[in-house]
Amino acid sequence: MVHSILVGFMGSGKTTVGQLLAERLNCPHLDLDALIVARVGKSINQIFAEHGEAYFRSLEAEMLAGAFKREGILSTGGGTPVRPSNRRLLINSGIPVVYLKASPEVIINRLHGDQSRPIFQTLDKKKLTQLLHERENAYEQSATIRLSTDHKEPSEIVHTILKSI
Ligand code: S3P
Repeated sequence: MVHSILVGFMGSGKTTVGQLLAERLNCPHLDLDALIVARVGKSINQIFAEHGEAYFRSLEAEMLAGAFKREGILSTGGGTPVRPSNRRLLINSGIPVVYLKASPEVIINRLHGDQSRPIFQTLDKKKLTQLLHERENAYEQSATIRLSTDHKEPSEIVHTILKSI
């Protein structure tokens, strides 16, 4: 089984923190988006453009269930806990689920110029804040640990996670 799972909005630090946490624990880092990209052989942008979001979401759900059985630290996608069945999997897993929180300002700063996230491309600050607000409950419900990543170094966040898991 995976040791810990990271959830949170795009730009909250899931991949950066997940990689560092896995390094510290000397175990593999599993990135759900990367698993999907490897499986389909297309980028996230291409999957959204050619097959649509619904197709991406069904792949995401399928890959999430499979990833649970592997060994390592799992970084999910920003939309993963929104699907009720994914959320149930996370809640019932018995695995520590860390919600990495970030403010809209910090997210926008971190993702400035990013071209790899199709949903981020469609959001201005107001819409991003609204989507974050809409998803907050899903992240909160899924999580066993909650941490703000605003103005913190990844090493500091990893240190806090290691004390809590
Ligand atoms: C998404 C977040 C992305 C990726 C896809 C959709 C979302 O993952 O799964 O672009 O709906 O928030 P990151 O949170 O790793 O950027």
